[in-house]
Amino acid sequence: MKKPVVISIVGARPQFVKLAPLARALAGRFRHIIIHTGQHYDDNMSQLFFRQLRLPKPGINLAIRGGTHGAMTGRMLSAIEKILMKKRSDFVIVYGDTNSTLAGALAAAKLSIPVGHVEAGMRSFVDDMPEEINRRLTDHVSQLLFCPTRASMTNLKKEGIRQTLINSGDLMYELLYDSHSKIKSNLTTLKKHDLSPGRFLLLTAHRAANVDSSENLKQLVELIESLTWPVLFPVHPRTLNRLKQHRLMSRLCKIDHLVISEPLGYLDTLSAATHAGAVLTDSGGLQKEALFMGTPVLTLRDETEWVETVGRGNRLVGLDTAKVLRALKRLPRVRKVSPMVNGQRPSRIITSSIKRFLRGR
Ligand code: UD1
Repeated sequence: MKKPVVISIVGARPQFVKLAPLARALAGRFRHIIIHTGQHYDDNMSQLFFRQLRLPKPGINLAIRGGTHGAMTGRMLSAIEKILMKKRSDFVIVYGDTNSTLAGALAAAKLSIPVGHVEAGMRSFVDDMPEEINRRLTDHVSQLLFCPTRASMTNLKKEGIRQTLINSGDLMYELLYDSHSKIKSNLTTLKKHDLSPGRFLLLTAHRAANVDSSENLKQLVELIESLTWPVLFPVHPRTLNRLKQHRLMSRLCKIDHLVISEPLGYLDTLSAATHAGAVLTDSGGLQKEALFMGTPVLTLRDETEWVETVGRGNRLVGLDTAKVLRALKRLPRVRKVSPMVNGQRPSRIITSSIKRFLRGR
């Protein structure tokens, strides 16, 4: 009997991370094909992740880069639809909340191909946040909703979703669990920038709300200026563009305690997060990842989708310098979590659910 064909659609950094443990579990049980939309394309935003995470090469790369949200999503939708019409596909998996997620889910749903959404049910309740729009719509056209947290299951029930909710746990935690010692022993970035373990801050910022408005971007620069710790700041391309556009790069370059770097790969980001005294970030993934590795997090937003992390070592500080400085004086205590759900790996739960679903059709 022919193996069912499962297609994963990815395009952005955090999706490669979630794909890594799942791709290993899918191999052998299904014919697994990866479509890369091309949303992230610089070597250190894309190929580096495929190499480090030993991901199979994407079967197809659509090379769709940049553009407005509508243009990018529209081009992806049309290109993915063409492929799905040509290739046999029994099931499509989409990940997280990017434009690639929404385009993949819509293309499959319109062709009546069942969709599984990894990281279903996450909500910030900020209606105009691009990711919130992507998540909500993706959840509502998916058949299998892989929920990483209790809150995400509750959110979907409240929205009246009648499709199958699966308490799958978190693939990001599973990958960290497997890569823990490799991450801890990797000191390449610390050595390169002369940073001492526990005595520097890792800072990342790329959310539209923080970097697209010149006022907020200025506030971020002021925040960095007021810190007294050494700070490592790997700059996301979106943020770099905005910093240049608003002529803030020269101001940043004058800050003595600041190390500006290119975006880092998986291992270097995680080892910097592990060895930092604290992580300041607006990334959803890094909030969880740093906590999992035992590092306190100050989230540069007023809300988080990962509500369970608040009180477990994550404090919401927005771009408020006073709040950040106060939090740095008394860092929150980190409480550990397990990657397993009832003793099972998230990747195992997801693959078994897909198998059961396809058998029942
Ligand atoms: C996207 C996701 C966001 C996710 C983030 C992870 C959406 C709406 N947003 O945001 O949810 O948290 O990825 O990093 O999908 N660029 C480059 N090189 C690259 C990638 C991007 O120069 O390799 C530039 C693009 O040309 C674009 C800008 O950076 O102008 C932003 O990229 P985009 O993919 O639109 O959104 P992100 O901010 O990366």
